[in-house]
Amino acid sequence: MSIATARAYPNIALVKYWGKRDETLMLPAAGSLSLTLDSFPTTTTVRLSEQLDADTFTLNGAPQTTEALARVTKFLSLVRERAAQHGFPGHSFAEVHSVNTAPTGAGLASSASGFAALAVSAAAAYGLRLDRAELSRLARRGSGSAARSLISGISVWHAGEDDQSSFAEPVPSPEIAMVIATVDPRQKAVSSRVAMRETALTSPFYPAWITSTEQSLRDMIAACQAHDFTRIGKITEMHALRMHAVIQTNDPPVRYLSPTSIAIFDAVAALRERGIEAYATADAGPNVAVISRPEDVTAVASALTEHGEVHIAHAGAGAHLIDTPQDTPISLQHLEGAA
Ligand code: PMV
Repeated sequence: MSIATARAYPNIALVKYWGKRDETLMLPAAGSLSLTLDSFPTTTTVRLSEQLDADTFTLNGAPQTTEALARVTKFLSLVRERAAQHGFPGHSFAEVHSVNTAPTGAGLASSASGFAALAVSAAAAYGLRLDRAELSRLARRGSGSAARSLISGISVWHAGEDDQSSFAEPVPSPEIAMVIATVDPRQKAVSSRVAMRETALTSPFYPAWITSTEQSLRDMIAACQAHDFTRIGKITEMHALRMHAVIQTNDPPVRYLSPTSIAIFDAVAALRERGIEAYATADAGPNVAVISRPEDVTAVASALTEHGEVHIAHAGAGAHLIDTPQDTPISLQHLEGAA
């Protein structure tokens, strides 16, 4: 197949990944656990063309020329290398069109859905037949958290010891709903890649963060398997606050949460006082994600509207191939070329 389209959704970690053991292989220092959502999809089409003398990449219709293109090219080179190892003559460059519906770079894990969709579409376009664990390992090389967007619903990404053992797989769990409160959709000032490297290099608390994350992950997996929503929620909120606390001890310090983010954590605590069980978390940005039981999600969303734009999400599907949409610029060119 020389053209393929995949769709992937962001995931929000309930036990966070923050720190790499190996930056080239993208091996995390500890495992993590997340919920893949049914909202904010990224749809990516990859078409191979012998006419191209370099990869091209458009994001939401805009041609990318700098860092974003470099990351895509690096990832495609890896896929080409694998394709060559499998005897598929996949050395053509590719045209990549990606449509991302999440606010890019604002802590809603758009890099996760982005690289999960790219892994699935590029593997198919270059003729690689990979199973879900292999696709998860491949997506990991683009952005660590992308490994988890290959899996539907709740998944654990094993830290592993090498490329082979570091991938995500499903974890049985109760149904969990999520309210995303978008506080600020702008690109964050310090990327997670840079800030997590600095935490490892400069925070005196980094070793404790890693050992406590390993413990939180064990507790969280047990809570999911026991369908214990209260325990899942408590670990989620505690772990998020620990991550943001340790990031603030970088030198120079980084602070992702804004006063509005903190107000949302307070509003969530007030909901609990009223008997509605909700727990907050936030990735590398000011937006806050709040988990609840599905039956409480509307009440949680309406309690948070005064703080920002709210969006209700549920568990969604892992990255998968879809038909190339008719309005993809690529498919028109493809058809014109074929005519
Ligand atoms: O995969 P990256 O480089 O986008 O890092 C993601 C880091 C967090 O979103 C903050 C935590 C996580 O586990 O997703």
